[in-house]
Parts: sequence; C-alpha cells; structure tokens
Amino acid sequence: MRTQVGIIGAGPAGLLLSRLLALQGIDSVVLENRSREYVEARIRAGILEQHTVDTLTAAGVGDRLQRQGLEHRGIHLQYPGTRHTLDFPELCGRTVWVYGQTEVTKDLIRAQLDGGPPLLFEVSDVRPEDVDGDTPRVRFTDADGVPQVLECDVVAGTDGFHGPSRAVVQEAGGRLWERTYPYAWLGILADAAPATDELIYAWHPEGFALYSMRSPTVSRLYLQVDPSERIEDWSDERIWDALDTRMALEGWSVNRGPVTEKSILPMRSFVSAPMRRGRLFLAGDAAHIVPPTGAKGLNLAVADVTLLAQALVRLLQEKETDLVDSYSDRALARVWRCTHFSWWMTSMLHRSGDDFDAQLQLSQLRRVCSSEAAARELAENYTGLPLEL
Ligand code: FAD
Ligand code: DHB
Repeated sequence: MRTQVGIIGAGPAGLLLSRLLALQGIDSVVLENRSREYVEARIRAGILEQHTVDTLTAAGVGDRLQRQGLEHRGIHLQYPGTRHTLDFPELCGRTVWVYGQTEVTKDLIRAQLDGGPPLLFEVSDVRPEDVDGDTPRVRFTDADGVPQVLECDVVAGTDGFHGPSRAVVQEAGGRLWERTYPYAWLGILADAAPATDELIYAWHPEGFALYSMRSPTVSRLYLQVDPSERIEDWSDERIWDALDTRMALEGWSVNRGPVTEKSILPMRSFVSAPMRRGRLFLAGDAAHIVPPTGAKGLNLAVADVTLLAQALVRLLQEKETDLVDSYSDRALARVWRCTHFSWWMTSMLHRSGDDFDAQLQLSQLRRVCSSEAAARELAENYTGLPLEL
C-alpha cells in the first residue's frame, strides 16, 4: 500500500486532517485501532470555538452543525449568592457553539466513507518506521489479521494520548511537561431539558460544578470529585443532590431526568515537544492534554491540523519545507497559551488547599465579574485566539 500521508488515529484530528488534505488534492490513509461504533459513541467535548466551526464548515462538513449546533453568546460564572453572565460578543465580538464531539466525529466519518480517502477501522500493532528518512512507513495488522505496510511521504501521529506516535518522536530526544491535578470530573449525560440558557461554571466550598448541554432536551453536567472516587458509589440521586447543592441559587433549580451515561475522568496538563521528528508530525492529544475546564482540547486539535495541513500541502505540492520546519514552534505557541488558560480556569474554580486558597479564588472570581478587562481576557481565550499567535 502507498499513500502520501499515513494518518494514525481517527479522532477529530486525524479525520479532519485527512479531509483538509483531500480538498487540496493530497491523498491519505487513516488507520484506527477501534471500531466505527466505538469511535462514534465516545462521549467527550461539547464546545466549539468559532474558528473550529469555520474550519469544519469550510471543509464541507458543517451542514448538520449549522442546523443542530447551538450558538452560545456567553457563560454564567457562579459562586455562592452570585451568578454573573459574561457576554462574549460584547467583550470580544465572538461566540462559541455547543455541538458534541461525537457529532463532529460522525460527520467526518460519513464524509470520509462517502468517497473520501480510505479509513481502516480495527487495525492493530500500528508502528511508524524510518521517520528520519524521506520514505517513512507505517506497519500494522489489518482487521482480518493480515500484516500490512503503508509506504508514505509523511506520517501524521493523531493517535491521542495513548497512541504509539509520541514515543517515536521522544526516542530522538525532546521534553515532556506534566501536571496532575488533585481532583477529577464526574460527568453525566441526562435526558433533561437544560434549566439554563448558557453554561454555568460554579465555584462552591464542596467543589466545582458545571452545567452544560448537548441539545434542547439533553443536559451534560459535571462535578468535581476526588480522583480516588468510584463511579459505583455515586447513585443518580447522590449526583443530582450534589449538583443541587453546588449550583443552588434562589428561585432556580437543576432539571432532573434519566441519566444515560456517567463516568469519572482524571485531569491533567501534558505537553510533549517537539511535535515533529523528521517526517512524523504529531497533532492533537498525541502531543498535549489540557484539563477540560477551558473547553480547549478538541479546539486545539483542530488548530493543530489546520496548521499541519497547510504545511504538508506546501511540502508535498511545492516542495518547500518552510512551513513544516516552523510547524512545531507555531503549534506549541498556541498549545502553551491554551495550557495556561485551562490551568487558570481549573485553578480558579476547583476547591483544594485551605481557606486562604478559597479566598484567593473568590477574589479572582469577583475580579472577573466586576472588571471588563479581566472579563475580556477570559472571553478572548474561551472563544478562541487567532490561529497563529
Ligand atoms: P482522540 O480523540 O483521542 O483521537 C485519537 C484516535 O486515535 C482515537 O480514535 C484512538 O482510538 C486512536 N488510536 C489510539 N491508539 C491508536 C493506535 N495504536 N492505532 C490506531 N489508532 C489509535 N475539548 C474541547 O475542546 N472542548 C470540550 O468541551 C472538551 N470537553 C471534554 C470533556 C471530556 C469528558 C473529555 C474526556 C475531553 C474533553 N475535551 C474537550 C478534549 C477532547 O475530547 C480531546 O482533546 C480530543 O478528543 C482530541 O482529539 P484527537 O483527535 O487529538 O484525539
Ligand atoms: C463541556 C466540557 C467542558 O470541558 C467545558 O468546559 C464545557 C462544556 C461539555 O462537555 O459540554
């Protein structure tokens, strides 16, 4: 088998990269170790920045997003006794969209299988090789158990945090930065109409809570919990009661409904540099993870592959190496900005430490809710900074 770009991983990063390259006449093959059903059912991100929406729309996969996505003009920031609205268009002229990552993935997979480049599910033993030369390859075993070799000009490692690509880059030298946080998120999906127009980010002495949604009839809610908590110990009623306590506001209540999914997610920050070794390029969660509080992970993956697609088109069509040579530095500038913003939102809103820390957090929240400059800083970062910083 031969292709121009061998893409490992069919998450949003790999699928969108394949699509952007195809639109420029560059062929690729996407290799995914899970089944289509598994990839399409994985519940994850929900907030798309404007540039993500624009990129998906320009790539011809924005029809359903335009019809079913919910445009949001702000967020509510809450601490006991106060719920304050940040108006994004007023603060920075931009908005965000609620549209589940599962839906983005389904739209991209459908476009790919409908005449797009090959997308192979349920492959195994995937391994990039000879990435330091001009003719790298990817070895893998196909869904029928047959060993295969994919010869390429370039390999894209879009295989998420647990994929094999990052280790191949790091073998040649590089640096990792990591921060684990002393809390996790318990997330639920519920068949209940959201009781709020905008997302609510709530600080509370018992821990952070977030009210989000997927549609006018489906709510997505999160609770800060200790990382050692077991989901079996959280009955639906216990979860709703904790949400009621942490989001309490006079005259308002959380809407309850059947819980259709619940899980506990650890939280970490992680950056791996460089995002390139020879002809192997990393993008998305393969190179970096942010804690979810700033809603940045999926958007960063989209930003990475937008830069990478431009760089690969220039390399493969014009034989110019300038954009691939600067790809890692340009991508990492945005990665660190989002890493800082996600760390800052996480640190401001989650309870840990002592009463002194709590007072610092409340002081920061009051500042964001009373100073236009402070609110604008949050709004600009949340809605998404320009692709190139
Ligand atoms: P992934 O989605 O992880 O895709 C990688 C793909 O590679 C997967 O399909 C995987 O199966 C495949 N793969 C792995 N190993 C191999 C292998 N050996 N061979 C072949 N394929 C392989 N981000 C936001 O922007 N906004 C949010 O609101 C948000 N909320 C989140 C909430 C939760 C609960 C979670 C968990 C994450 C959230 N994120 C959010 C982060 C976001 O989901 C990720 O950043 C995003 O999925 C990254 O996309 P990716 O394509 O880089 O990686
Ligand atoms: C969602 C996830 C986030 O991390 C966030 O900050 C906002 C919303 C969500 O899944 O809807």
